[in-house]
Amino acid sequence: MSSQKALFLQGPQGSFVVGDKPVPSPGEGDLLIKVDAAALNPLDWKIQKGFTGFVDDFPAVLGADLAGTVVEVGEGVTHFAKGDRVITQGAYTPDRAGYQQYALAVGEFSAKLPPQISFDEGASIPSAALAAGFGLYLDVNESGPGGAGLTPPWEAGGPGKYSGKPILILGGASSLGQLAIQFAKLSGFSPIIVTASPRNESLLKSLGATHVIDRSLQTEALRSALSAATTAPIDLIFDAVSLSETQQAAYDLLSPGGTLALTLPPTINVDSQARKRVFFIRGIAHIPELRKDAANFFAALEGLLANGHIKPNPVRVLPDGLKGVAAGLKELEEGRVSGQKLVARPHETPV
Ligand SMILES: NC(=O)c1ccc[n+]([C@@H]2O[C@H](COP(=O)([O-])OP(=O)(O)OC[C@H]3O[C@@H](n4cnc5c(N)ncnc54)[C@H](OP(=O)(O)O)[C@@H]3O)[C@@H](O)[C@H]2O)c1
Repeated sequence: MSSQKALFLQGPQGSFVVGDKPVPSPGEGDLLIKVDAAALNPLDWKIQKGFTGFVDDFPAVLGADLAGTVVEVGEGVTHFAKGDRVITQGAYTPDRAGYQQYALAVGEFSAKLPPQISFDEGASIPSAALAAGFGLYLDVNESGPGGAGLTPPWEAGGPGKYSGKPILILGGASSLGQLAIQFAKLSGFSPIIVTASPRNESLLKSLGATHVIDRSLQTEALRSALSAATTAPIDLIFDAVSLSETQQAAYDLLSPGGTLALTLPPTINVDSQARKRVFFIRGIAHIPELRKDAANFFAALEGLLANGHIKPNPVRVLPDGLKGVAAGLKELEEGRVSGQKLVARPHETPV
């Protein structure tokens, strides 16, 4: 096992091509994993379209969410052993990205996968859980990456702490939205009001949403639907979509003194008189100042998965392993994926 198949993005705006690549060796703190499933993220098609800041060198290997089996353990790793089923957040560097058959994982940014969750389902979890978890629970930090500053449900006093307080989640059916709903439920928020296509209502209610509002409603209709769900002020909004129109709607619906968590950089003009805090979530374990928080998060996530408190997204497996990724990314780009995570199985790549 010295060579493997990987999916290479040839360059910005370039095509994806399957090729050969050496299997890397784990350094200190690393795991080498056989990638049983790699999930697709919007960032991958954005990078292919020329979005900069994540990938500098081409050809590049993409893919931020991996699930697989530990085949080798690096020095200093004590929590994992050969044969463990794990999930991890990959990085956009050649040996740590998902679209290949073997990848390195930072042990501290990995969690054991319980037997009731398949590899395909497991791959849907890391980035969505981290972004939702960081958005809600990282400390407030006005000068760097931070969050809404809530007490996490895995810490003393955290479970159910926000009972009786409403939360609005825009894009409840997105991968991040589904995780945000589940964290909001663990934190006790009530009601949990989400926007989505009506076809996703039963899925989102099964995760903890109490009210599902049709995502096609414009701001004033949305305001009426919100008022029907709660008379309490909306102090926290998680915008999992964060297109300029959802950002503006969220900002307008937020109560003075409230917090708006965005998953994309802000495009709205923040009125300093309005006393509304707006921040952009950085759900990336590999950012140096977030590494310790990420390690704590993955340790907590392992427990939440084992006890069934956090569930994966519904998944759809793409055909032809790595060769199916490009078509899957096109579906994501064109908004043709609803309530599901697309997953590739690198070892099913035809030779
Ligand atoms: N900041 C970070 O750390 C971070 C991390 C990961 C991802 N992101 C970003 O976060 C965004 C979401 O990522 P994701 O992976 O969760 O996306 P996703 O799962 O691909 O999102 C697809 C879903 O978005 C929903 N949607 C689209 N437009 C909507 C609208 N106007 N209102 C309500 N729902 C809408 C659709 O819901 P229906 O099917 O119900 O119509 C669809 O199910 C992306 O822009 C991504 O790049 C940021």
